[in-house]
Amino acid sequence: MIHEKLKSFPKGFLWGSASAAYQIEGAWNEDGKGVSNWDQFVRIPGKTFKATTGDVAVDHYHRYQEDVRLMAEMGLKAYRFSVSWARIYPKGKGEINEKGIEFYHQLINELIKNKIEPILTIYHWDLPQALQDEYGGWESRQIVEDFTNYAVTLYKQFGDRVKYWVSLNEQNIFTSMGYKTAQHPPGLKDEKLSYQVNHHANLANASAIKEFRQYVPDGKIGPSFAYSPAYAATSKPEDILAAENAEEFNSHWWMDVYAWGTYPEAAWNYLEEKGLTPKLEEGDLELLKEGKPDFMGVNYYQTTTFESNPLDGVSEGRMNTTGKKGTSGERGIPGLFKTVKNENLERTNWDWNIDPTGLRIGLRRITSRYQLPILISENGLGEYDKLEEGDIVNDDYRIAYLQTHLKAVQEAISDGVNMLGYCTWSFTDLLSWLNGFQKRYGFVYVNQYEEGEHDLRRIKKKSYFWYKDVIAQNGANL
Ligand code: BG6
Repeated sequence: MIHEKLKSFPKGFLWGSASAAYQIEGAWNEDGKGVSNWDQFVRIPGKTFKATTGDVAVDHYHRYQEDVRLMAEMGLKAYRFSVSWARIYPKGKGEINEKGIEFYHQLINELIKNKIEPILTIYHWDLPQALQDEYGGWESRQIVEDFTNYAVTLYKQFGDRVKYWVSLNEQNIFTSMGYKTAQHPPGLKDEKLSYQVNHHANLANASAIKEFRQYVPDGKIGPSFAYSPAYAATSKPEDILAAENAEEFNSHWWMDVYAWGTYPEAAWNYLEEKGLTPKLEEGDLELLKEGKPDFMGVNYYQTTTFESNPLDGVSEGRMNTTGKKGTSGERGIPGLFKTVKNENLERTNWDWNIDPTGLRIGLRRITSRYQLPILISENGLGEYDKLEEGDIVNDDYRIAYLQTHLKAVQEAISDGVNMLGYCTWSFTDLLSWLNGFQKRYGFVYVNQYEEGEHDLRRIKKKSYFWYKDVIAQNGANL
């Protein structure tokens, strides 16, 4: 569709930016916080780039006022952050840690004072280690009760002021990388278990959303899904089918459950033949249907291109976590699909495709399939930034990335997509789970590195001033 004139961004559009507790807060063992799965996992040699941890991260826990001041000065309309479960319940359940609650009250009040809409993510991957130790965390159905209890605590504490909520961040990533590729905690490779874990996460998500209606009846809640729309490598029917398979297994497997409470049929049949489907209990499917979201949260970074993959074909591939361009490898599932490089797209130094049109395509697909409003809960560019003399960062490449993606959002709005808002990833620089501090995403540079001690000072990048202007003009200057 080529529009002669694009629609304007709607009034009240949430011009936002996002973060996650483990990646920014630091203060990992302060004020009564319990140990999380990530606090423990990063200490295993070889798991993260140069053994980086979130012990200090960018010290947001102690510097949140300065960070909110920078947001306010920018004119940011919304800020998405996550709560650290182990700060609220050090053991995952039982006694509440009042100091943890207090920290988020202060942060939320500071945001509201500055007219910034808080968007609260309940779970962004940092599980209290005590629950992992007690019953395997997401491996047990017990997690549904404990997660719901934690979510309800947050609703009761913050629901009077927080109206936008994200239930689970990227369930597709934390279940796959935790249980299929072993790159995230608990570091297992057990395909069957990964599907069971994912089913428990679906139940927990639905149960938390169901309770939300009672405690925050005027709020909106949805999951954030890491959506990488699938392209076919060629117009050969077998490649088109491979891309369809990828959509079914990599995306519908999650989004159908969120939106409709059902697993997609072709994928379910295929997994059943292999004995991999999760065990369903009585009442599960009813619960999934009762936990429908108000919007689909979308974390978009790139599209992926697929071709057919024979039964003896490629499986696991290399992931680039070093920032050395061209070091990632093809990966796939034999009999379903395998990834190929898309020669039509530029890639970042971490081999992520840069594809603004892919975002528009993804937004359109979600709209056609689910008819839900969409909140872009993450979109951004992870790159090396150079701090120049006089504390200057000229990140024109980031401006170009965000500008083209926002233009694609405006085109999607013109196509008829119902967009609630757009959160860049991220506001300040932060810890990239597996890539240390060298892969930067923020509008605000933080003087923090993998090695040594640094002053953590905040420096506005060129993109900071650019986004400030975009917000002031409600996107009219894109
Ligand atoms: C998303 C996560 O997967 O992508 C973020 O929700 C993460 O927490 C972001 O940081 C970028 O990924 P990475 O690996 O470049 O840090």
